Parts: sequence; structure tokens; C-alpha cells
Amino acid sequence: MDDSTLVFTSSLDVDSRMAFYDVMGSLAHVNMLKACHIIPAEDVDSIIQGLRAILKEIEDGTFQLDFKLEDIHTNIEFSLTERIGPAGGKLHPGRSRNDQVAVDFRMYLRDKALDAVRSIDGLVTSLLKIAEDNTDSIMPGFTHMQHAQPVTLSHHMLAYVFKFSRDADRFMDAFDRMNKCPLGAAALAGTTYPIDRFMTASALGFKEPTENSMDSVSDRDFVNELAFCATQTQLHLSSLCEELVYWSSQEFAFIEMDDKFTTGSSIMPQKKNPDIAELVRGKTGGVVGALMSMIVLTKGLPLTYNRDLQEDKRPVMDSMDTVIDCLEIMSKVMATTTFKKDRLMEVTSRGQINATDLADYLVTKGIPFREAHAIVGAAVRESIESGVNLEDMPLEKLRTFSDRIEDDVYKFIPVQSCVERRISYGGTSSSSVDMELSKAIEQLMQREEVLRQERQLIENCWKELIG
Ligand code: ARG
Repeated sequence: MDDSTLVFTSSLDVDSRMAFYDVMGSLAHVNMLKACHIIPAEDVDSIIQGLRAILKEIEDGTFQLDFKLEDIHTNIEFSLTERIGPAGGKLHPGRSRNDQVAVDFRMYLRDKALDAVRSIDGLVTSLLKIAEDNTDSIMPGFTHMQHAQPVTLSHHMLAYVFKFSRDADRFMDAFDRMNKCPLGAAALAGTTYPIDRFMTASALGFKEPTENSMDSVSDRDFVNELAFCATQTQLHLSSLCEELVYWSSQEFAFIEMDDKFTTGSSIMPQKKNPDIAELVRGKTGGVVGALMSMIVLTKGLPLTYNRDLQEDKRPVMDSMDTVIDCLEIMSKVMATTTFKKDRLMEVTSRGQINATDLADYLVTKGIPFREAHAIVGAAVRESIESGVNLEDMPLEKLRTFSDRIEDDVYKFIPVQSCVERRISYGGTSSSSVDMELSKAIEQLMQREEVLRQERQLIENCWKELIG
């Protein structure tokens, strides 16, 4: 091959990140070859010694990579043969680089999925703390960026808690689906050697082997799925960050971010910029782009392996790193941000945010909701023109809009009552919010237990293989 061909076709700069997993895959494979009497036991021992020496160098960062050897799989196999001689050549029966790359990538992404779940749960923990501390902090709830109805800060934060919890669950679902072992699918059709795919699958911590050899080497749906999980998480982060950006503006002044997590300006001494939030919002573009790359990459590929598939790694490796970085820093940002409770209350009390409640009140007095809506519309107009809030208007004034209004109206329309009366399941009242909090904590704890078990299982496999 021409040098330019070697350079152009190499994937080493990206797939060398999977070096550890490649060694694990080879160790599992060679143990199986031995158990199935496919190669002599003494060759197996020297292959294992050689692979362990390579692993040590990979971990020390001293393993020498040769770009002329296309990818990490070939680099490791060549290095093995250099170390132990021709026995190194006995590692490959019953597999091919096509199933090797598929199994390595699944192991790599399986770990990244668990990393992402851990980082999401870190952020969820920070958000839960804000929610727990603010069950009585009232703020405006918005639709169309206009004051809509009052809510508690707790309720607002819990909205994000449930969004991110779903993201974590989604990663776990994807983890489950990708947790099948393609090793032994070989090039595409399986192999004539009497291999035991169940043995390698279990040695590598997979649930079971993949069912179809052609499917195993041709598909990257697990990559696409993870790229989507990353994208959805990043979209949720970008909404949160957008809110933080304007909440920290002088006009809103809902929050104050900690100096440690804001930046200054090179010329304006007073500036305290929410750069982290803006960067997270900005990095969303790259994460969405990775998903698009993968979808287009895999469109219309005939079965089975095609070299196009070598382009599958960089996008999702980068997007997983990005989303994990963003989650980690946002967890610190949220843990150190101060919410200005007085300001939130002041802003909430300023307008006619309790108009729905006045209409609901009229409904309890037998007025059809549509009629009540129009009556309150007139009262709101008066409130805007006079600058007197609905709850501050004297009863005689309120009764000019409807004679059904009585003294008990003042139990309905203060913003605290508006919040507390929303007792519907999932609503903003403190009783509903308590339920939300305990659900969210329960989900978090269940997930942490599953995460711990999955990690343990994988760690045990590595210990067993490395010896
Ligand atoms: N470097 C390749 C990749 O990452 C490995 C598989 C190569 N297989 C092949 N038939 N050329 O996809």
C-alpha cells in the first residue's frame, strides 16, 4: 500500500482509545480457545503472558503504536507476535476484526453509558437539594416566557429532576440492549471452529451472545441509540442553561452564581458572566451533530461489514465525553448557585399571575368557566390600569365585575393559596411536591443500586481476565 493509503485508511488515532477493551476481548477469546481445545494450552499461556505485558504498557502509556498497522486490533496482535513469536498468530481463529471492533466498541460504550448515568445522577442530586430547600419558595411559572401561574422553586427544579431521571433510565435501557456479545460472529458468517460464544460473552460481562452473525458485524444501532441518549440529555442541559443565563441577568436577578463558576470580562470590571451555562448550551450543537453523523453514516449500508463503519467512533466518543463533562460541571454550578427567594416572591406578586385562580373561584360560585374567563379579563384590565393587584382590590371593587364575588375570595387568590390549592397529582402544592420528592429519591436510589451491580459485574470480569 502507498503511504498515503496507509494514512488515509488508518483508524488508530481514534480506536486506540479502545486498547484496554481489545486486550480484554483477546484474553476472553484465548481462554475460550483453550477450553474448547482449539489451540494448545502452552501457546495459550504465552499469549496470556504477552497480552498482560501489553496491557501493562497500555496502562503506563508506553505502548508503541504503528500507524502502518491500520488500527488498534492489528497493533496489539502484531505486538503480541513480536513478543512471543509465532504463537501470537494462534490468537485469531474463530474471530475477525469485524466482530473484534464490534465487541470492543460495545464494551467501550457500555462503560461510557454507565459513566453518563453516574454523572446525570450527580446533577440530579444537586437539583434535589435545591428542591428540598425550596418547597416554600414561590416563583412565577412561565408559558411563552410570560407569567402564567405561580409555582414553587421546588416544583420547577423537580421538573428537571424528572427530565434527567428519564435520561439516565434511557441510558440504562440502551445499555441493556447493547449488552450482548458479537465476538465469534467472525467476519460475517460464523466459524468452522468449535467455539463457545456463551463462554466469551459471560467472560466479558455480557448478558449473552448476539443471535445473528451477520447482524453482529453490520449494525451500529447501539451507537446511534447512545448518540441519541447523549443528545436528549444535552438538550435538557441546554434548556436548564438557557434559564440560568437569563435568571442571572440584571433584569431577572433570580439567581446569583458562585464566583468560582462564572467568568469576568477583559475590559468591564463589573462583569460576571454565565459562561459555563453558555458553553453547555453551545456544545449542544456538536452533540446533535454526532447523532446526525451516525444516522447518515449508517443509512443504506448493505450487509454486512463495510469500511464506512470505521467512521463510527469519533462522533459518539466525543459526544459522550462532552455530555459527561457538561453534567459534571453543571452539578457543581447548581450546587453553588444561590436562589434569591425574596426577589422570586416580589416578582411573582407584581402582576396578575393569580387570574386563573379568580376565574376558578367564580366557577365554584356556579359561573361557567368561559364566562368567568371574560369577567376576570375585565378585572385584570382594571388591575393593570390602576396598578392595584387583584388580591389587593377592595371587595366593592371586585364586585363591580361580578356580584358572585364574596369575602372568601381572599382565601383563593393570594399567590400562596394559588400554589397550595393545586393539589392535583403532580401539581405544585407542597403535598404534591412531597410526593414528587419521594418518587424522585426512590428512582435515584434504585438506579444507583443497578449501576453499582452492573459496574461490579464488569469489574469482576476484568479482574478475572487480568489475573
Ligand atoms: N479498522 C477497522 C474498523 O475500525 C477494523 C475492521 C476492518 N475490517 C476489514 N475488513 N477491513 O472498522
